[in-house]
Amino acid sequence: MKLLEINGGKKLTGTIRVSGAKNSAVALIPAAILSDEEVTICNVPDITDTEALCEILSFLGARVKRASETIVIDSKEIENKEIPATLAKKLRASYYFMGALLGKYKKVTMSLPGGCSIGARPINLHLKGFEALGAKVTNKDNCYIVEADELRGNNIYLDFASVGATINIMLAAVKAKGKTIIDNAAKEPEIVNVATLLNNMGAKIRGAGTSSIEIEGVDYLGKCFHEVIPDRIEAGTYVILGAAVGENLKVDNIIPEHIESLTSKLEEMGAFLDIGSDYIIVSRQDNYKSIHVKTQTYPGFPTDLQQPLTPLLTACKGQSKIEETIYENRFMHIPYLNSMGADIRVKNQTSTIVGPTKLTGCDVVATDLRAGASLVIAGLMAEGTTKITNVEHILRGYENIVEKLTNVGAKVEIREI
Ligand code: EPZ
Repeated sequence: MKLLEINGGKKLTGTIRVSGAKNSAVALIPAAILSDEEVTICNVPDITDTEALCEILSFLGARVKRASETIVIDSKEIENKEIPATLAKKLRASYYFMGALLGKYKKVTMSLPGGCSIGARPINLHLKGFEALGAKVTNKDNCYIVEADELRGNNIYLDFASVGATINIMLAAVKAKGKTIIDNAAKEPEIVNVATLLNNMGAKIRGAGTSSIEIEGVDYLGKCFHEVIPDRIEAGTYVILGAAVGENLKVDNIIPEHIESLTSKLEEMGAFLDIGSDYIIVSRQDNYKSIHVKTQTYPGFPTDLQQPLTPLLTACKGQSKIEETIYENRFMHIPYLNSMGADIRVKNQTSTIVGPTKLTGCDVVATDLRAGASLVIAGLMAEGTTKITNVEHILRGYENIVEKLTNVGAKVEIREI
């Protein structure tokens, strides 16, 4: 198990360069198998989630070459084998192989995905979409067999604008016969990034990024070269860190529009942000005001940033509130923040953060990816030493986090225990 030791209370200054988006890359890698030729994807973050997906690609017999942030995937010789639970359970995004293998071979056999324990996280909307395209779904001991004699386009309405279901249905529909329309589709930037990859291969997808996506099935998908967009959640995490302990901390290689819901909240709180075309420079201010945040689907405030935002709100005067509307169990970081001196209560999916309070380092545990990020920010704000265990959660989604923090003056080190 890995432990992160943080010696907090220091001002951080310099530049953090944001990596490619985890939640885009984890869809682009499975989507690549839909091509009958070589697919090159650059700006792929080197994190354990992308490693796990490349392991599945190799298991299926694809040829995978990785050179720093670029992955070249050749699926000419892949076999449509059952993906074992040992591989599928490593992350939530393994379920994109369902849509990709179904779309390519009209059959897929794999177990339920893994992922952070932040809620039940069913995949009913994904399966409903596959059935609407003509597939039959059977579930044997949590192993799904999804197969169709033929996949035919259809009109699909999503009860909830699910990111995963939107992408998975797109993957299954790109080679179906006829037109598919996904209504109430998710609008996250990662959806657009995946649709652009597929269109670069020769697919016919329109409307990605809006709530209605139209997919005209095609027979052949070929070679392409594609780039992962910058990670808006990593970017937001480091902008929050800058507002907490930064001194002209520059968060670089970002798309500021993707985190407008965050930056407007930070400005409401009293942060001063120098927002450039592809960067944000931020410094800690005194006398932050309390704010109210409600998580929403894009372009609303992202659920993935409510946990990293929480420690910053301990510096605000008064009562701040965060209402979590997407997941039912995304407050597991709160007890650890309170053990560091925060004063936070949780009731009915809303956390109330009373401030300002002083944070002091202590031993804490990362329960999930973004809870871990929240504890890193708290540890960097706190006086003294914070030791975070279960750091593997954090390494799933933040490329080179120790190096990036050290480069801006943080005293952090990671070690096996
Ligand atoms: C993606 O998860 C992201 N993960 C999540 O980021 C992110 O929090 C989420 O989108 C929302 O933005 C990846 O992209 C790998 P959803 P996903 O389907 O696709 C319910 C992180 O920290 N739901 O939009 O699983 C579900 O239970 C991770 O990087 C159903 O009920 O999210 C949840 O309450 C965490 N049935 C809500 O919808 C379904 O079939 C949001 O799920 C699918 C989802």
